[in-house]
Order: sequence, then C-alpha cells, then structure tokens
Amino acid sequence: YRTLRVALLGAGAVGSQVADLLLKHGDELADRAGAKLELAGIAVRNLDSKRDADLPRELFTTDAETLIVGSDIVIELMGGIEPARTQVLHAIASGADVVTANKALLATHGSEVFEAADQVGAEVYYEAAAAGAIPIIRPLRDSLAGDRVVRIMGIVNGTTNYILDRMDTEGADFADVLAQAQALGYAEADPTADVEGYDAAQKAAILASLAFHTTVPLDAVHREGITSVDAAMIESARHAGYVIKLLAVCERLTAEDGSESISVRVYPALVERTHPLASVHGANNAVFVQAEAAGDLMFYGAGAGGVQTASAVLGDVVSAARRHIAGGVGVGESTRANLPAVPIGHVITRY
Ligand code: NDP
Ligand code: HSE
Repeated sequence: YRTLRVALLGAGAVGSQVADLLLKHGDELADRAGAKLELAGIAVRNLDSKRDADLPRELFTTDAETLIVGSDIVIELMGGIEPARTQVLHAIASGADVVTANKALLATHGSEVFEAADQVGAEVYYEAAAAGAIPIIRPLRDSLAGDRVVRIMGIVNGTTNYILDRMDTEGADFADVLAQAQALGYAEADPTADVEGYDAAQKAAILASLAFHTTVPLDAVHREGITSVDAAMIESARHAGYVIKLLAVCERLTAEDGSESISVRVYPALVERTHPLASVHGANNAVFVQAEAAGDLMFYGAGAGGVQTASAVLGDVVSAARRHIAGGVGVGESTRANLPAVPIGHVITRY
C-alpha cells in the first residue's frame, strides 16, 4: 500500500481514542482505505496532560504548525475557533484534506474553510461535527440529495440530554450531573456551550445548511439552553405526562404565496412520554428527518463520548484516504452547502 501521513491535532476525549484506534486497527483500516495510514504525530497544548489512552510519548508535540506540513490528512480535534481555524486553513493550504469534529468552527467559519478547500481542491470531512457517532452528515448530503427535506427534529446534544434525563429519572442535581458529563468526556471544554444551547445551535445550523442546500448563519438560529430548567419544572412536566428535552428543529416553511423560508431553533420542549424522543436516554441523540419522497427517517445513537465519536472521525479518515488514492476526486466532493441563502424565519412551536 501507499503510505498516507496523518497528523492529529488534539488528544482529549475524542483525539486520544482516534489515535488509539488508528494505531490498534492500522492494518484493517489500510485494507479498507487502500492506503497505510501512518500517524505522524499528535499536537497538544501540554505534553504532560493525562491521556485517556496509552499512546506512544514520542508521537506528541506542541508544534502543530510543523506537524501539519507534508501531511496528507489532518485531523483537527482541538475544538474551539482559534487556533483550530488557523491550523485547519494551514492544513488546507499545505495540500492536506481535513477531518474535523469542530461544529463551533464550521458553524461560524464554515464558508471560509470550505472556500479555502475549494481553491486548492482539498476536502473537509465533518461527520462527527453533528450528533457524535450517528451518521447524519452523509445521509443528508448524499443519500437524500435527490429528495426534498422538509423538516429535521431531534436531540443533538448529548450533555444536556444526559443532564435532563438524570434529573428526570433520578432526581439528580443539575450541577452534579453536569460535572459527571464533563468527567465522562461528553461536555465541551467550556460546558456553557452545551447547557446554553450554543453547541446544539451550531449543529442545527450545519444540519439545516445541508438539508436545505443553503447557508444558515449561526446568528439566525433561535437558541435557548436548559439552565432555566429546574427540578420543579421537570416534576410538573412528569405529572402532566411530559418529559423536558432540548430539541433542535429545522423546517422549510412555505407561505401562501408559495415563497419559502427556513426556521431553525433550539429550545427546551415538552415531549409527550409516549413519543420516541422521550425514550432517548443518557448522552444519546436522535434525529428525525422528514423528506417529501422518503417520508420519515430516524437516526439514533451515541451523541457524545470519546470512542463513539472516534468512530465517525475514523470513517472520515478512511473516506479521505480513498479520495487520495483515487487521485483527489469523488467521495466527499458535494460537501458544500453553497447555494444562495433563503430567508430565515423564526417560528417557535412548543411540543
Ligand atoms: P478536549 O477538550 O477533551 O480535547 C482537546 C484537545 O486539544 C486536547 O488534547 C488539548 O491539548 C488540545 N488542544 C487544545 N487547544 C490546543 C492548542 N492551542 N494547541 C494544541 N492542542 C490544543 O476536546 P474533545 O476531545 O472533547 O473534543 C474535540 C472536538 O470534538 C471538539 O471540536 C468537540 O466539539 C468535538 N466533539 C466532541 C465530542 C465529545 O463527545 N467529546 C463529540 C463530538 C464532537 P491538551 O490535552 O494538552 O490540553
Ligand atoms: N458536547 C457535545 C455534546 C459533544 O454533548 O453533544 C458532541 O458533539
């Protein structure tokens, strides 16, 4: 096999598992990718940080910039905007394909990143940027490309679902369960992103952009988090036959005159206990997609967690490797949602 050089930026909850699986299953992945994937190095902030996996110390560096140069595939798992944005643009300019789970970056600087990739014929893969291990980016981008998606509704943040579920089923304290979600590697580095709904809003913007073939700016997404949800609200919801879930809803709206707009919103909602979304427990996510021809589709699984998310990241790495071997054509080429934006309307519907 030809050898492809892979650079990993970040070895936290997700990155350490990606490195571990890449090293453990190298031969199998090479068979699937048609190329040997050589982990050239792992860039981190602090060489002495404790890792979730036992990884060779000699792979670690604090010099991401140098590691990127000469790499065929750069996996960005640092999170946040900077230096992730600079390093991703550097990777693209250096001729690498990029795999990232960074929804914060893509929801705010996606156009810049995708345009930079277009200019040099590089590709950006981001299956892990929405709903963790659940395949949802490819289905929206590829499998449903011939259909018309009219609605996406679901739970797209694992941390908040974990918190609300434990509060509902065990009467757990908000702050205690949030601390557990952080310890389990579900939460963002700054968990405000989770509990205030920013993370879900970023994912909703990404999913809506793909589903509706447009660009949904993050500031057009209506966002409410779960910090105002307390034990009394959960209790009264239960008595009325409901459970509180943080929902993301993306809809194509058609006015009487036939004009179309889009509504994208994230908010804590009352879900009937008999509804399938009420049975989404722990850090799991579920996404319902309604398309004109396909009808109703449901995607369910782990929405957060290091090793679960590593599955989606490595799937992208294999896709990127196949593209390299095929000469840089195919597979991820239709990633971009670069049609003109349609008007964004806000319709708040409580369930
Ligand atoms: P962590 O905070 O656990 O890890 C971040 C890693 O990046 C650490 O290894 C850190 O180094 C490194 N890093 C941070 N800043 C720098 C820097 N300036 N220079 C070099 N290295 C840096 O994050 P996660 O693994 O949880 O998340 C990674 C990405 O994946 C994020 O974009 C997140 O949103 C996304 N994601 C996370 C999921 C999850 O369940 N955790 C699920 C889906 C997506 P050091 O260790 O030395 O501090
Ligand atoms: N913090 C995110 C969540 C990670 O809890 O869903 C997965 O994107």
